[in-house]
Amino acid sequence: MGYRENKVQKGSPALLLTDYSTPQRGAFHRSRALLKHACLIIVLYGIHALWSTGFQACGLIRAISTVRSEEPEFDWFSLDPSTEITWSSCFSEYKCARLILPLDYLSPPGYGPNVTLALQMLPATDTENYRGTILINPGGPGGSGTDLVRRRGKDISRIAGGSFDVLGFDPRGTGASTPSAQCFDSQSQHKIWDLQGGDRMLNLTDGSIPFARARQAAIGRRCEEVLGGNGKESENGTAAEWGAGRFMSTASVATDMLEITQRLGEDKLKYWGFSYGSILGQYFSAMYPDKVGRVVIDGVFDGYNYLGALWNSNLVDTDAVWQSFFMFCHQAGSSKCPLYESSVDKIQNRVNSILSSLIDQPLVVPFTSTGPFVLTEKALHTYAFRASYSPVINFPSLAELFVSVERNNQTALSELSSKFDTYACSCTDTPQWLTDHEALHVISCGDGDPYQFSADGFHDWFTNLTAISQFAAPIWGNAYLRCAEWRVRPKWRYTGPLAAENTSNPVLLVSPAYDTVCPLTDARAVHARYGGSGLLVQNSYGHCSLAAPSLCTAKHLRAYFENGTLPKEGTVCEPDELPFVGTVNHDVHAMSTEDKELLDALRGMAEEVPSFGLV
Ligand SMILES: *[C@@H]1O[C@H](CO)[C@@H](O)[C@H](O)[C@H]1NC(C)=O
Ligand SMILES: *[C@@H]1O[C@H](CO)[C@@H](O)[C@H](O)[C@H]1NC(C)=O
Ligand SMILES: *[C@@H]1O[C@H](CO)[C@@H](O)[C@H](O)[C@H]1NC(C)=O
Ligand SMILES: *[C@@H]1O[C@H](CO)[C@@H](O)[C@H](O)[C@H]1NC(C)=O
Ligand SMILES: *[C@@H]1O[C@H](CO)[C@@H](O)[C@H](O)[C@H]1NC(C)=O
Ligand SMILES: *[C@@H]1O[C@H](CO)[C@@H](O)[C@H](O)[C@H]1NC(C)=O
Ligand SMILES: *[C@@H]1O[C@H](CO)[C@@H](O)[C@H](O)[C@H]1NC(C)=O
Repeated sequence: MGYRENKVQKGSPALLLTDYSTPQRGAFHRSRALLKHACLIIVLYGIHALWSTGFQACGLIRAISTVRSEEPEFDWFSLDPSTEITWSSCFSEYKCARLILPLDYLSPPGYGPNVTLALQMLPATDTENYRGTILINPGGPGGSGTDLVRRRGKDISRIAGGSFDVLGFDPRGTGASTPSAQCFDSQSQHKIWDLQGGDRMLNLTDGSIPFARARQAAIGRRCEEVLGGNGKESENGTAAEWGAGRFMSTASVATDMLEITQRLGEDKLKYWGFSYGSILGQYFSAMYPDKVGRVVIDGVFDGYNYLGALWNSNLVDTDAVWQSFFMFCHQAGSSKCPLYESSVDKIQNRVNSILSSLIDQPLVVPFTSTGPFVLTEKALHTYAFRASYSPVINFPSLAELFVSVERNNQTALSELSSKFDTYACSCTDTPQWLTDHEALHVISCGDGDPYQFSADGFHDWFTNLTAISQFAAPIWGNAYLRCAEWRVRPKWRYTGPLAAENTSNPVLLVSPAYDTVCPLTDARAVHARYGGSGLLVQNSYGHCSLAAPSLCTAKHLRAYFENGTLPKEGTVCEPDELPFVGTVNHDVHAMSTEDKELLDALRGMAEEVPSFGLV
């Protein structure tokens, strides 16, 4: 999901970092903490920005400072909520609003509690040719749209052509929207839980699965208590009594998008959704086919696989993406890839032996700014999996990390420790909208068909998954456990069809040739279900088209947003940057200023690759 950020398995641990939900948190932590504790910041930011920024602490600090000077603190809850969209200035040139909508769309108007959605908008720059508002969803599920627009609204606006307002909203349960899908009492409680994830990947024979399942059961019970309600839906009851988690399904979010569109005074939705955002786009286009204005879904997961809670159609190209780490390293040569060997196989063997060396002997890093730390195979493998969502951005620093592990370079490793399972207590209360939450569980498990854990069922599913992707299965296997232990059922969910013979305007699908977690086969399946839809293939590796900047893709997107023009069937766009190798296809000096700016915007977006399915 989501977006850029990414996070790691909350439930799992140790790993890494971040949680999905955190994209947004990062900015705030960054800005606040920076003022006082530079070290702390690095940790927090590192946690959160793992993917995006790679491993260089200095780069992180620079980025943080910039953020701080541009983004004064803003208290979302100081805005009065309203049943109309009433914009107030926020974050310098942005507009923010809190919109009241019904918790339950099935109850009569005015009956029962409400939700309040956080909306943040970057106004169009080309007001002369103003064309309305593009809503964005950063994936997850659980990513914050307000956070994405704050960090990348300008890049999105440049890609779409400047004639659109760009609006990020926090879907129910996430970010600054209330009620929140939070099942822990505090951020530190959450972080401490994350640190207890253990040091094992999922493996059918070593006891790791009962442990991982027990952790999911703990979350499931907490969330049932906090978000499940009391079984009554009284007229004046509170959201807690009704059970806020029963009303966070994607069907409700799709309906929220329709409500937002209407309150903006626009007839049809304009939308760009990434990763899980492709699910939201499929739901909307199936539920409200005559309200489709422009709908782009980028990094497409098969809606039926999602609805069936199967989580297994989507890893078919994962190992190919991982393989490309070795391939691009070899192609780039020793000057650009520190793992370079004389053949692709040799690079792969070298990386595999670095990883497996940690099984027998985890690497000790006694001195870091947050204390001692031990690097396990699980942590490094999980890190590598996450990194493979965004190869252009992450592969070079990942190669350096492998070399540092191989050489036991303590200087490098102590600098990098913040990327792993460390936690620095901040001693200040985290604002509610920056606190980790369980929206991934609430939304994805609630949307899917319910099921109970069975040892045989898991065994078969996991064995099949391992055959599809050996690299991802030991991490992705948590998807089954997560929902098997989930107990909050939505009052209302949409169960299909996830298809539309006709939509009022065509849907545009965008897919990398090799997506880490949303493969082209899924995009083709969805393409066939939406009459008149277009499919743009980008010949790149990584999650969503964002993972690899491509001017060609950007120009097709603009033509679609501005004019409704679909790329011709069979169009394939080449990327302008390759992992390790760098810029290709263009003589940068010969590029027009406009193209250079566009490429910069695309590079910015590459920092935002969603962390689909990872907690
Ligand atoms: C929910 O919002 C409606 C307006 O849309 C309002 O009439 C109602 O009082 C609100 N309910 C609660 C419990 O605040
Ligand atoms: C699972 O754990 C066993 C030891 O219990 C080990 O022999 C095996 O290699 C592990 N499987 C994988 C895929 O790592
Ligand atoms: C709910 O509140 C309204 C307005 O305060 C009141 O008129 C109504 O009787 C209440 N309903 C119940 C069931 O308490
Ligand atoms: C160890 O890492 C540091 C910091 O990244 C680097 O400057 C140094 O050259 C590395 N040392 C070796 C022996 O690779
Ligand atoms: C696993 O794969 C087999 C063979 O393709 C299939 O028959 C079975 O239904 C699959 N099981 C699960 C749980 O996906
Ligand atoms: C599909 O949409 C087109 C254009 O709006 C319309 O002419 C046609 O009748 C629609 N077909 C169906 C099956 O709704
Ligand atoms: C949209 O169409 C207009 C009129 O045909 C054209 O001038 C413009 O270049 C098109 N925009 C894009 C981005 O293709």
